[in-house]
Amino acid sequence: MKIVTIVGARPQFIKASALSREIKNHSGIEEVIIHTGQHFDANMSDIFFKEMDIPAPKYQLDIHSLSHGAMTGRMLEEIEKILVSEKPDCVLVYGDTNSTLAGALAARKLNIRVAHVEAGLRSYNMAMPEEINRILTDRISDILFCPTDTAIKNLKNEGFDHFNIKLVQSGDIMFDAALYYKSKADSESIIIDDLNLNSGEYVLASIHRQENTDQTNRLQEIIEALNIIHHHRTVVVPIHPRTRKLIEQQQIKVKFKMIDPVGYLDMISLTSNAAIVMTDSGGLQKEAFFFGKYCITLRDQTEWIELVEGGFNTLVGADKNVILDAYHTNVSPKTSFNIQLYGDGHAAGKIINSIIL
Ligand code: UD1
Ligand code: UDP
Repeated sequence: MKIVTIVGARPQFIKASALSREIKNHSGIEEVIIHTGQHFDANMSDIFFKEMDIPAPKYQLDIHSLSHGAMTGRMLEEIEKILVSEKPDCVLVYGDTNSTLAGALAARKLNIRVAHVEAGLRSYNMAMPEEINRILTDRISDILFCPTDTAIKNLKNEGFDHFNIKLVQSGDIMFDAALYYKSKADSESIIIDDLNLNSGEYVLASIHRQENTDQTNRLQEIIEALNIIHHHRTVVVPIHPRTRKLIEQQQIKVKFKMIDPVGYLDMISLTSNAAIVMTDSGGLQKEAFFFGKYCITLRDQTEWIELVEGGFNTLVGADKNVILDAYHTNVSPKTSFNIQLYGDGHAAGKIINSIIL
C-alpha cells in the first residue's frame, strides 16, 4: 500500500512525526511525503524533520508567502501532478491549513482515497481561513479521524452520518507526539537555563493567528497586556514570523522576552516548565493541558471546547483588560488535569489500522 502524506506547516510536521513512526512499523506500507513549502524557515520546518526523525520529503514544492487563493491554487496544481505519477492508494492530510485543503482537493478530484487527521473541529467562525479549510476538507474526505467526542458530535450535527464517509474517534495524534518526545525534551533541551528562566515562574505565550495579527488593534492590545504582565513575571514568546513582521511594520513596542521560534523539544520544555500558558495557537492550548498548565486563550472561540468546559482554559479574546483580568484571576480547573480528553496516546496505531482495513 502506498500513502502520500501532505505537510507544509509547523503543526503538521509534529502530527506527521507520530504517524510516520507508526507507518515504519508496517512493512507493507510505503509513505511518500510531499512538503508544500508553506513554512520554510529552518526553525519553522527543517528543525522538526531533524529533531523528530521525520522521513525526508520526496517532494519539496517551495510554495509560500502568497495570498490564500494563489497559495492554495499553486499547491493544488503541483500536488495533482505528483499524485498522477505516484498513484497512491490513500492521501493523508492534517489539520486545517491551506496545504491541507490543497492536498485533499487534488486527491479527491483524482478519486484517490483521502484520510483527514484532526477532523470534525469547528470554531463556527467562517471568517477564519482554518474553518473554511477544515469544513471543505472534511466534506471531501473518505475517512475522518476525530481527536475528540466533540469533533464526532460536530460532524453528526452536520449530517456526516448520512454521507459515505467513515468517522473514527482516534484520539489526538498530538497527544502521541507530546508523550513520545517529553523524555527526549527532558534530557536534551537546555532552553530553560539558556534563557535564565526559573521553572514554574514564567508565562509562555504565543500569537500568530490571522484574526489577531492582521487586525492591528487586537495585536496591540495583546502585546500591551503581555508587556504589563512582564513587569512582575517573565513572559517568554517564541515569535511566529508572521507576527514578527507585523510587530516590526507597525512599530509596536515589545517589552517581554521575544525569541525566535524554537524546535519541538524546546517547546515541550518551555510548556512543561511554565507557570501558565497564554496563546492563540490550537496545538499549544492542548499541550498546556497535556503538561498540566492552565491556559488563557487569546481568541473569541476555540475548537477545543472541552478544555473550556473543564475549566482548563479560558477564552479571553484580544481585549487588554479582559486578558489582564483573566491572568489575575486564580482559576482552578473543575477536575484534575489527569483525565483523558484526547485519547490514550495511541492515536497513530488506530489511524493506520483503520486506513489499511
Ligand atoms: C498557517 C496556517 C494556520 C496555522 C499556522 C501554524 C493557513 C491558512 N494558516 O498560518 O492555520 O495555525 O500556519 O503556524 O494555512 N512565514 C515566514 N517563514 C516561515 C513561515 C511563514 O516568514 O517559515 C511568513 C510568510 O511569509 C507569511 C506569514 O509568515 O508572510 C504567514 O505564513 P502563512 O503560511 O501564510 O500562514 P501562517 O500564519 O503561518
Ligand atoms: N511550536 C514549536 N515551536 C514554537 C512554537 C510552537 O515547536 O516556537 C509547536 C507547538 O508546541 C505546537 C505547534 O508548534 O505543537 C503549534 O503550532 P502553531 O501554534 O504554529 O499552529 P496551530 O496549532 O495554531 O495551528
